[in-house]
Amino acid sequence: MIDVEALSKRYGALRAVDGLSFSVQPGEVVALLGPNGAGKSTTMKMIAGYLTPDAGRVRVAGHDVSLRPMAARQAMGYLPEGAPGYGEMEVGAFLDFIADVRQLKGDDRRRRREFAIERLTLQHVLQQTLDTLSKGFRRRVGLAAAILHDPPVLMLDEPTDGLDPNQKHDVRGLIGELSRDRTIMLSTHLLEEVDAIATRAIVIAGGQMRADHTPAELVALSRYHGALSFLAMDTVAAIAALEGLVPSADTAVDRRDGRVVLFAQALKLTPEAVARRLDERGVAWSELRTERGRLDDVFRQLTVQRSEEAA
Ligand SMILES: Nc1ncnc2c1ncn2[C@@H]1O[C@H](COP(=O)(O)OP(=O)(O)OP(=O)(O)O)[C@@H](O)[C@H]1O
Ligand SMILES: [Mg+2]
Repeated sequence: MIDVEALSKRYGALRAVDGLSFSVQPGEVVALLGPNGAGKSTTMKMIAGYLTPDAGRVRVAGHDVSLRPMAARQAMGYLPEGAPGYGEMEVGAFLDFIADVRQLKGDDRRRRREFAIERLTLQHVLQQTLDTLSKGFRRRVGLAAAILHDPPVLMLDEPTDGLDPNQKHDVRGLIGELSRDRTIMLSTHLLEEVDAIATRAIVIAGGQMRADHTPAELVALSRYHGALSFLAMDTVAAIAALEGLVPSADTAVDRRDGRVVLFAQALKLTPEAVARRLDERGVAWSELRTERGRLDDVFRQLTVQRSEEAA
């Protein structure tokens, strides 16, 4: 449904997008993940046909975005970054304007408009101008506009940006619902978003692809994946008690949750062996578990490390 080949865009000397290639199959929800300035929005603008690439090719639903822009745009709904323009327009009039642009008519137009208004809970702001809406409501109007013509492909640039936790939850639910019969690409720098809605994550940094994995595969890249961790009152005593079983270089105390972490995957250490040793040495412990891996850790590994290397 989306096919990107060697896509590149420069701004002066800056390579904002640098030779990106990937494709998105029907029914996938792909998260484009990367830190600020990674090139997410630039990539999405080029896919949506709002920015001309310097090199490379984009096809949406089989239509080349440069050669057949109208057909490609017809197949896709696009939520740009930030707020919609047309600040002086009322919400209702704005949706009418989008419906005109999309050439929606008659019953279909009425139904689509009602669905979008209801789904994004815009009933009470229809007479309000876009400028006077809160940030979250502006985002919701943008989403309503993107889904108005019921396109098979949705390109959503940070769809939950600026939303409160309830609205984030709601919009993720909506994306899940829409994904049943659509192909969705969304950008985010929120890791929980990847876990919550994506079937696949493409990680980019410096305009280049760093990883292309399912959320489970991504989390398995974490150095925490398969590590053992537990809570102890006296973490120093706990680590000392494990001497000979786990090299101290492979132990750490997590700063956030205080868990003792044992990076001893290579030692094939079992939770039973750790529990036995702690009990033998009289160390009080609880909540011993095997770690699934941490997305924030993978994200840093993939996006920070290399820019530090470059610097
Ligand atoms: N019109 C422009 N002129 C010059 N530089 C630009 C322009 N648009 C984007 N850039 C630069 O290109 C790089 C990529 O920007 P882009 O907006 O695609 O990043 P992003 O991944 O969407 O970041 P964010 O998470 O902050 O939204 C950044 O360094 C940005 O400053
Ligand atoms: Mg962006």
